[in-house]
Amino acid sequence: MNRIIKTESEIKKMRMSGKLAAEVLEMIEKYIQPKINTEDINTICHDYIVNKKKAIPACLGYHGFPKSICISINDVVCHGIPNKKQIFQEGDIVNIDIAIIKNQYYGDTSKMFFIGTPSVLSKRLCQVAQDSLYLSLKSIKPGMPLYKIGEIIENYVKKNNFSVVKEYCGHGIGRNFHEEPHILHYANKENNITLKKGMIFTVEPMINAGNPQVTCMKDGWTIKTKDHSLSAQYEHTILVTEYGCDILTWQKNETISPKLINKH
Ligand code: MF3
Ligand code: CO
Ligand code: CO
Repeated sequence: MNRIIKTESEIKKMRMSGKLAAEVLEMIEKYIQPKINTEDINTICHDYIVNKKKAIPACLGYHGFPKSICISINDVVCHGIPNKKQIFQEGDIVNIDIAIIKNQYYGDTSKMFFIGTPSVLSKRLCQVAQDSLYLSLKSIKPGMPLYKIGEIIENYVKKNNFSVVKEYCGHGIGRNFHEEPHILHYANKENNITLKKGMIFTVEPMINAGNPQVTCMKDGWTIKTKDHSLSAQYEHTILVTEYGCDILTWQKNETISPKLINKH
């Protein structure tokens, strides 16, 4: 059985795994430019994870996924497969999702990058996706019902006239990539456990500019919006602490604090 509450020694390892995943996103930033293909981005991340960090890329071979990271461009919602023929173009919005294993423990994080100058809509979509994640993280503390996370995200996204993808959730994480509990990004009171100190899970809302429906491509992995509208996602792995939460995958350039104290 997977323990939903982590021990001190597990938390220590999860802090290291989270930091490492975040460092991959920091490292790759300068390579995200027009004309580079996504296979090359995959290779740079793979080599950095394996050679520099002595860690394992968690996506590689996961249920048969063929590459080390996911790269999802424009109307791709998630699980895009890096490939030589896919070349970043001016104006693209790109999600890079990094998951690694270090000392048998997983870290999982993703963020959006802009290729050149994004459109007003692209920028706003990414901002709303990130803000919905941040807003939900700022509310987390022991005693809070789990469904509140999804409620906060859904309300904020709807208020901004975008939509939340329902097919994919955040997840508990530890010695397994995906563990209990499921973290829905929309309100559902059946999904109702109470948050406790020592829980570690991801929050990773996928937000569409148009309708929430998605479809899977013939490759069996790539998920796109059904209406071809743009999609954006941000993901963090977090630890519930005594008074709030710690963002285990926090990156240096983020505007949110890595240690959140929730006084409400
Ligand atoms: N990183 C994704 C998540 O956030 C999972 C990707 S699975 C893969 O849960 F096989 F597509 F890599
Ligand atoms: Co995840
Ligand atoms: Co991920």
